[in-house]
Amino acid sequence: MRLKRTILILGIILLAWWSIIYVFLINNLTYNRNKDSTGSIDGQLMTLENGLEEQFVMNKALISEAQQFLENKKYMENSKNNFLGLQNIQIPVLVFACNRITVTRCLDKLLQYRTDENRFPIIVSQDCDHEETTDAIKKYSSQITLIQQPDQSDIQVPPKEKKFKGYFKIARHYGWALNQMFFHFNYSSVIIVEDDLEVAPDFFEYFLATYPLLLKDESLWCISAWNDNGKQDLINLDRPDLLYRTDFFPGLGWMLTRKLWLELYTKWPISYWDDWMRDPSQRRDRSCIRPEISRTRTFGKIGVSNGMFFEKHLKYITLNEQNVPFIKLNLSYLLKENYDREFVKNVYKCPLVDYEDLYYNKIAFQGPVRMMYEKMSEYKLITKKFGLMDDFKSGVPRTAYKGIVTFHYRGRTVHLTPYLGWKGYDVSWS
Ligand SMILES: *[C@@H]1O[C@H](CO)[C@@H](O)[C@H](O)[C@H]1NC(C)=O
Ligand SMILES: *[C@@H]1O[C@H](CO)[C@@H](O)[C@H](O)[C@H]1NC(C)=O
Ligand SMILES: *[C@@H]1O[C@H](CO)[C@@H](O)[C@H](O)[C@H]1NC(C)=O
Repeated sequence: MRLKRTILILGIILLAWWSIIYVFLINNLTYNRNKDSTGSIDGQLMTLENGLEEQFVMNKALISEAQQFLENKKYMENSKNNFLGLQNIQIPVLVFACNRITVTRCLDKLLQYRTDENRFPIIVSQDCDHEETTDAIKKYSSQITLIQQPDQSDIQVPPKEKKFKGYFKIARHYGWALNQMFFHFNYSSVIIVEDDLEVAPDFFEYFLATYPLLLKDESLWCISAWNDNGKQDLINLDRPDLLYRTDFFPGLGWMLTRKLWLELYTKWPISYWDDWMRDPSQRRDRSCIRPEISRTRTFGKIGVSNGMFFEKHLKYITLNEQNVPFIKLNLSYLLKENYDREFVKNVYKCPLVDYEDLYYNKIAFQGPVRMMYEKMSEYKLITKKFGLMDDFKSGVPRTAYKGIVTFHYRGRTVHLTPYLGWKGYDVSWS
């Protein structure tokens, strides 16, 4: 009964909203015409059209919000039976493409490892109107769906940022394509992949099995396939099943829910969307899940992204080759209440060692150890020594959880932890 009433009320609100907008737009049009009789009717029609289009997206979003409400309710009812909610769930993969025909390498791997085409539809969103790339994508015919970003207009970029124009286009493309996925196709979650990524054999199962965590745990906002410190000599190759929580948004093959998109789409930035997401006002203390061994690898990108970064770093990240049956594993250790109790406690129980002793192999005992950092300079020194990423975004070190950076070194787990009495990330660390 209550549900029916909610739907009815939502319907009335929607109708009222449409009426107000309609009246407003017509008024604005007449007003503009009276005020400026020289203004072309074309221009006014375009204004009206743009206004209506914007309204269309917003209304779709409103409907989506209502659906989200019902879905959450249904999920809560089902979650007693754990994976029951997974039976019919569709998790699409959204591939971002532009003008690189090497997108085929990405698509070939996705198709090779996709177990179920109904469960995992693949949608390629193409920007840039690059004909060769379009042709390459169309060759996959019904195995994938191709959508194309209609707005190919030039973007006004501040003079200082001219050379970063590509980032503005990417942000616009992301905004458009995610609106399509959540408001047009109506999916409740999406896995995002870019055209320079190839995926691991268990890529799909990893996301399917972690999806319930994302729904259940409000302190999670993404699942990522990427380990920023995933180089061969910094990971435990015997533990492809191992997953962590991280406060650092890794991107590079990641899943978000419609619920998150409903929060982000109204304020989506015009450029640098990934760093924008890492800003405290977006992240709001939420974490992602990341694997010990990456489930994506980038095979290099010429163009927007920094080629140096690829040469120096990205190309050394190891891609997992084994199949881990994630769906059969008990992943509840990753839920915040369990993780903060068990993982964090175990970290601080590890014996504290000096980084030089570890580096020069002077530790007599086996097992995990802990190193500590207090100042930013100290953090940089230690991470450089071990070949870890040494940068920060909004004060968060890559892969960090509560300031703890965990990696594998010479057969043991190492936790690089902040000093006792640490109060949280310092955005001035960069
Ligand atoms: C209303 O008209 C003004 C110009 O007078 C224009 O700048 C504005 O975008 C219009 N608003 C809408 C919603 O069309
Ligand atoms: C959107 O999805 C919901 C369930 O998630 C479904 O009930 C609804 O009918 C769908 N709407 C459209 C327009 O496909
Ligand atoms: C799963 O792991 C949690 C601890 O993280 C434990 O409390 C729970 O009993 C386990 N469930 C099963 C079915 O083994």
